[in-house]
Order: sequence, then C-alpha cells, then structure tokens
Amino acid sequence: MTTRKGIILAGGTGSRLWPITQGVSKQLMPVYDKPMIYYPLSVLMLAGIREIAMITTPDDQAQFQRLLGDGSQWGIALEWIVQPKPEGLAQAYVLAEDFLAENPSAMVLGDNIFYGHGLPERMARADTRGGGTVFGYRVSDPERYGVVGFASDGTVNEIVEKPDAPPSNYAVTGLYFLDETAPERARAVQPSARGELEIADLLESYRHDGALNVELMGRGYAWLDTGTHASLLDAGNFVRTLQDRQGTQVGCPEEIAFENGWLSVEGLRARADLYAKTGYGAYLRGLVRS
Ligand code: G1P
Repeated sequence: MTTRKGIILAGGTGSRLWPITQGVSKQLMPVYDKPMIYYPLSVLMLAGIREIAMITTPDDQAQFQRLLGDGSQWGIALEWIVQPKPEGLAQAYVLAEDFLAENPSAMVLGDNIFYGHGLPERMARADTRGGGTVFGYRVSDPERYGVVGFASDGTVNEIVEKPDAPPSNYAVTGLYFLDETAPERARAVQPSARGELEIADLLESYRHDGALNVELMGRGYAWLDTGTHASLLDAGNFVRTLQDRQGTQVGCPEEIAFENGWLSVEGLRARADLYAKTGYGAYLRGLVRS
C-alpha cells in the first residue's frame, strides 16, 4: 500500500522581505498570532498526511527544529532535509527522493496560506487521482506567479513561470499533489536560465503525458500572498479578522491533530498548559472541554 507523504519547502533567502528576513527565515515570520509555517503545515495535516519532510536552508534548520521538533506533539513525524542552495522548487523532489520512497506526495510551499470551506474534500479528491493535481486561483497580478494557460476546450495547454504576457489570470498555487514519478521527472528537468529546477517544467512533464489535473479554487477561497511587506500584513489582518469574528483558529495544528484522532485529550491538555499565558492556550483549553 502506498501512503501519500508531505513535503514543506521552506528554503530561500526571503530577499524580497529584507531587512526583516535577513536574520530570520521568512517562513518563521508571524502571520498574526502564529509562525507562517503553521498555515501550510495545517493544510497537509488537513489532507490527512502524517509523514512530512521539512526542507530548509542549512542556516535556518535549527530554528525550525526548535519550533516544530519531531512533530510528535501533533501525532505526526517530521523528517529534516537541507536544501544547500535555492536551486528551484522542483529540486525538493530530488532532495526528498529517499524520504518519499516511491510514494505519492503533496508538497506545499512554506509561505502559502490557504483558507476556504471544503479544502479537505478537494484535497481528498486530488489524493485519489493519479498523475498530478495543481490548484489554480484567480489573481489580479498573474505575472508574479506560475500561470495556467487554457486551450479553447478548457483543457490546460501550458504552465508558464512568471510570464510577461500571462495566458490567463489563474496562478498556480503552491500546493502540488504529484504521484510517485515526481522525483524521477524532477531529475530530468534542466536548470533554467536563472539556474533553477523550475516547478513549471516539472508540471509540464506531467501535462505532456496527459497526467496533469488543474482544479480551480473559486471565489470562496482565500489564497493569501506573503511576498511583500504589505501582503504579509494583509494576511495577518485577514487571519485576525476571521479568528476574532468566529472564535475559531485558522491554522491550528493541535486542533487538526485532535480532530484527526492523532492527539489524545491528555496530549491536547499538555499543549494548552504550555501556552497557558496566551489566547492560543485558552483556545486549546476550550477544545479540551468541548
Ligand atoms: C513559486 C512558484 C510559482 C507559484 C508560487 C506560489 O514562486 O515558482 O509557480 O505560483 O510559488 O506561491 P515564488 O513565490 O517562489 O517566486
């Protein structure tokens, strides 16, 4: 039996957010009350994934480990992999090849925040499909992302990275469900002009074989950008607004672990005690009681 494994890619220099990310990894920046990495981690956990490889730069690994440990506090297992240089998103599959061990995977980028009703069901659909599935999201500035091109019959005819003339307004979000052939395909990708193994080229290999599915996320979803100082602040405000209004947490690994049956009541209580001085702890305490 195969098990879909997770990859979180949290490398990069974060240079677009300097000076704030000069001393600390971008993916450890706060998004309101949690480190950014909690949000993509929560997405994989919502997909039912318990074995996850964390890919970081060599310098940042220790800080991520201090925060996340081995994952056992959430009933998951984290494996640590270093990306020595930022040589492209597709390189993650080469680095994680042994970890994946011929299993399909779901990779999420450490700076991507997703929010929307029905996300677990969508990911469950992607999980049962063969080949690859990516999620398209309408944005006003597609030239900043990987972009999906559609043929007249609605099928995908290209995936292009940061095009000057975007073929559509649909960006490819940083969540990739790929089958067990991803590492082998990634090894065949040639470095681009900027010296990186581009995710667009890996996805193109799937598309070429008729094995790429694109699911469009509609207006009811939020896919938040954290790529600029302003959008990082906006993301924090979005999380704060939702949490305050609903009294529920966005991106709370303890809650997801508890609901998935990976964390016992005692385990949840221990986490609540750890955070006793915060609203986060009070929230966990509330979950214990409910
Ligand atoms: C990367 C990918 C791009 C994707 C984006 C999503 O871009 O290369 O295809 O749309 O993540 O966040 P980056 O943000 O690394 O420039």
